[in-house]
Amino acid sequence: MARPKNIVVTGANRGIGLELVKQLITKFNPDNIFATYRDPENSKDLLQLASQNGNLHAVILDVRDTDKYADFVTNVESTTQGAGINLLINNSGFFNKENNTSLSQLDKADLMYHFEINTLAPMMLTKAFLPLLEKGSKANGSQPLGIGRAAVLQVSTNMGSIGDNTSGGAYGYRISKTALNQASKNMSLDLLPKGILVIPLHPGWVKTDMGGSNALITTEECVTGILSVLENLNEDTNGHFMRFDGKEALW
Ligand SMILES: NC(=O)c1ccc[n+]([C@@H]2O[C@H](COP(=O)([O-])OP(=O)(O)OC[C@H]3O[C@@H](n4cnc5c(N)ncnc54)[C@H](OP(=O)(O)O)[C@@H]3O)[C@@H](O)[C@H]2O)c1
Repeated sequence: MARPKNIVVTGANRGIGLELVKQLITKFNPDNIFATYRDPENSKDLLQLASQNGNLHAVILDVRDTDKYADFVTNVESTTQGAGINLLINNSGFFNKENNTSLSQLDKADLMYHFEINTLAPMMLTKAFLPLLEKGSKANGSQPLGIGRAAVLQVSTNMGSIGDNTSGGAYGYRISKTALNQASKNMSLDLLPKGILVIPLHPGWVKTDMGGSNALITTEECVTGILSVLENLNEDTNGHFMRFDGKEALW
């Protein structure tokens, strides 16, 4: 089984991100997992988990603060001692359901806020971690391409799918994730020669603060599926828009 030794996950204090951290630790027992959060007050579960697991490092990061990325990378580099990272999961996401739902409600600042978190941050953080992803891939060059080498998971949504859009609305969320999908496809082509795979992924409709209580699956079911997709990630699925259940999503 491919095992990512060093992992970075954003938005790890609640919802899908917190469950990703829990299952990544159980399944892979990584050497290091760096999990970001913003506010200690709503991150108690993550901080408690970090106090119980020496390999889990909770790191404060608002993903809009791109000027903090260099310090984050330096911190990861010194802890991992030149091993690089094998898996970057850009999970932080924002969906303002109160605004930007209809064309008449469009607000420029709100649209930009969606773009900052859902599109620009995953792109810029991937750029920032590129040297460490390259190191991770090179250091494990005897392994097949995938999470045993270096991979980036961009947590997207089928609301970013053009082909699957039958209801309209939610402009900010939809277009920022559609743009993320294109960026992810681009990266999958650009980074393949460096031994780094990239996929955008729809995690399902998940019972979290964002997904709401009517959602169809639990975070446990969602993340079990995501880890299976990651384990099976290879050159053939690189750049494909995947779903948590292993099927392909519609672009
Ligand atoms: N739930 C679903 O049904 C569903 C469906 C499709 C896609 N997704 C995607 O799955 C991902 C996780 O969603 P979720 O359901 O777990 O949502 P959630 O429970 O609302 O959690 C969102 C996460 O993103 C973090 N975040 C938001 N703004 C941030 C910022 N500026 N900087 C750093 N972190 C920030 C939040 O941190 P704070 O606690 O600090 O706000 C939180 O950790 C998102 O990318 C979302 O778009 C979810």
